[in-house]
Amino acid sequence: MANDEVIHPEPRDDDVQYDEQIRPQRLDDFPGQEPLKEKLRITIAAAKQRGESLDHLLMSGPPGLGKTTLARIVANEMGVDIKATSGPVIERQADLSAILTSLEEFDVLFIDEIHRLNHAVEETLYSAMEDFEVDIMLGKGPTARSMKIGLKPFTLIGATTRAGLLTPPLRARFGDTCRFEFYSPEELEAIITRSAGILDVALDPEGALEIASRSRGTARIGNRLLRRARDYAQVKGDGIITHEMARKGLNMLGIDGLGLDDMDKALLKTIIEKFGGGPVGVSSLAVAVGEERQTIEEVHEPFLIQIGFLKRTQQGRVATPRAYKHLGFSATPDAGNQGTLGL
Ligand SMILES: Nc1ncnc2c1ncn2[C@@H]1O[C@H](COP(=O)(O)OP(=O)(O)O)[C@@H](O)[C@H]1O
Ligand SMILES: [Mg+2]
Repeated sequence: MANDEVIHPEPRDDDVQYDEQIRPQRLDDFPGQEPLKEKLRITIAAAKQRGESLDHLLMSGPPGLGKTTLARIVANEMGVDIKATSGPVIERQADLSAILTSLEEFDVLFIDEIHRLNHAVEETLYSAMEDFEVDIMLGKGPTARSMKIGLKPFTLIGATTRAGLLTPPLRARFGDTCRFEFYSPEELEAIITRSAGILDVALDPEGALEIASRSRGTARIGNRLLRRARDYAQVKGDGIITHEMARKGLNMLGIDGLGLDDMDKALLKTIIEKFGGGPVGVSSLAVAVGEERQTIEEVHEPFLIQIGFLKRTQQGRVATPRAYKHLGFSATPDAGNQGTLGL
């Protein structure tokens, strides 16, 4: 589905070529996430002054908010190299040991989707993070023995969209967690305007704000909508992304004024029409709308919760009065019926 492509916060093929160009390289060049940047400025400066490696960092938050970008920036600011891999890619302990022993002093090892490490690999990581040591197996079969090898001090940066799935021992080994927040429209406006400058796109301030308002608080989506609006303005206008061009171009993609796409609306409508406004379990919802549960939980729900359209309760998902209003439903179900035991 065309619009699903557009709002999906995971990278798409056509993002890759732009990513290289527009990825911020320094903290000062990275709009938004102010509390995180402030914290990082201090810890980076302190580590540099002491001549030590930076504490291990966990970056958590929905996809497309800048976790990978900020990990690269941290390495840049520290003046060290970064090696990047991801949880599901590291299959054996030996694979991880090979990466760890190749790191130079203070280098950053970035492990994306760190909640998806297998158990054996994760155990290897514990001593690497804590004592800068790994056990290496020498030989095979009954004569095999393990040997400890010292590592140069390094910084592990883990990224995850599901911090709740991290095991407690792994979580405990991170010195600090950077929790990413959705961007405000103003922050997204700054991100989009910056990208437009780099890509040489003509963009009015009103056009920028219109794109920003529809970007679901997500930097990657903002950059993607900018490119779609550019195409539209080029074909239907004179190439300048005005408010009008942004509005029409993005409407055509099925993205409404708040950034909701067809699937968001289908989810809310299903809760309202088929399940009396909820509560309804996410599995039933997934079946009813024909979407994968994981996509609903990682892509659609965080945003719908953020804008106050959806609530997660212990009994299931509930559509809020704001969702009813936005979708043009007049009445919310009698609140007295919810949560009361039939009398
Ligand atoms: N604060 C920001 N300012 C400008 N661009 C950003 C910002 N955060 C993310 N981006 C851009 O958005 C895209 C997605 O960022 P990325 O770091 O890959 O997100 P994540 O790892 O959280 O999924 C990249 O193209 C990146 O350049
Ligand atoms: Mg990433």
